Amino acid sequence: MKLTSDEQDMLDGKHGKAIRKSMEILATLGEIFEAECMVDVGSVQIAGVSYTNLGEAGLEFLSDMAEDGKVKVLTTLNPAGMDRENWKALGINEEFAKNQVRVIDAFAKMGIITTCSCTPYFIGNVPHFGQHIAWAESSAVCYANSVIGARTNREGGPSALASALTGKTPKYGYHLDENRQGQVSIKVKAQVRGTDEFGVLGKAIGDRLINLGKNVPFITGIPSATVEELKSFCASIATYGGTALFHMEGITPESDRYPKPEGNVLEVNQKDLEKARSELVDVCPEVDFVSVGCPHASISEIEKIAGLLKGKKVKKEFWITTARPIKKIADEAGYSKIIEDAGAKFAADTCCVVAPIKGRFKGMLVDSAKACYYGRASNKFKVRIGTVEECVEEATK
Ligand code: F3S
Repeated sequence: MKLTSDEQDMLDGKHGKAIRKSMEILATLGEIFEAECMVDVGSVQIAGVSYTNLGEAGLEFLSDMAEDGKVKVLTTLNPAGMDRENWKALGINEEFAKNQVRVIDAFAKMGIITTCSCTPYFIGNVPHFGQHIAWAESSAVCYANSVIGARTNREGGPSALASALTGKTPKYGYHLDENRQGQVSIKVKAQVRGTDEFGVLGKAIGDRLINLGKNVPFITGIPSATVEELKSFCASIATYGGTALFHMEGITPESDRYPKPEGNVLEVNQKDLEKARSELVDVCPEVDFVSVGCPHASISEIEKIAGLLKGKKVKKEFWITTARPIKKIADEAGYSKIIEDAGAKFAADTCCVVAPIKGRFKGMLVDSAKACYYGRASNKFKVRIGTVEECVEEATK
């Protein structure tokens, strides 16, 4: 791989230890994926922030990097294991909280904005069309590539941090035109509406892609989709299909940029959606936990929840997971008061998957297909998907 003289200096340690280590990580990745060169990135999002995932070994790596590393580009974090202000009310223990703070402090020392969210595009970490970036959270990667038209591979925690400290990433994968072309056409022959249904659609298409061994679908038959529906779809198709980029005719910005995929057009119909939905509903004797905001809730989702909760009281644990800046807007708009008066809880900076709540609840109701997957796999809950209205109804009954 060709390096510029500046990049070579970084690799030779002329800009310090953390940058040398970072360039080693990026150069190794570049060699593995046969990148010809590095490319400048304009934004970074780092995953692997929860102390549960990092442990002491991960924290040691971060502390080493923080000794002399400073970020070169705007960098934000994925959700952490707890709400940084409200962790006690969410039942997080003190020992975990202390360790999570050590993690966040190490990131802060490097100049990283310590807002922890999987929707960086709602909170000011917004790339422009065609910009090269290095993001790590799978749903955000899919959103950045597909909905915004920025260019990123799905980075791991260390490679995203390395990009933040150097401002570079190896130019391979979705940074190149030739890998952004649709590989298979999928026609949706059903009406899809709401975050839960778009999540179900993401699972139906994602499962199909895994069987086909294809990564980039070209999707037709969706007349319109809101930002919230698209974020839910991104999270789901990334979870079930490993998809980091899709094109949706008439909706996503690169859908008419490349030739249409050759070969048969596959159909996803109402029956396929019903099958996918049935796979997201466990036999669940009791729902004792409801969570909305996977990926992190937008201000309009919070407005909607406030409207549904107004004047009611929740009877079971109900979390609204979002980015802290969005929570602040909800505070100003008066939505937080309505929600908290009803007894529901904001879980900012975190979510129902990365918080250390494994086994704490029996049954979880969500409007997110991704949360169903990880609620089962990581937290050992029985899960059920429903609309936002059904989530509020369940929480208050
Ligand atoms: Fe975000 Fe947590 Fe869902 S990180 S995408 S809210 S699983």
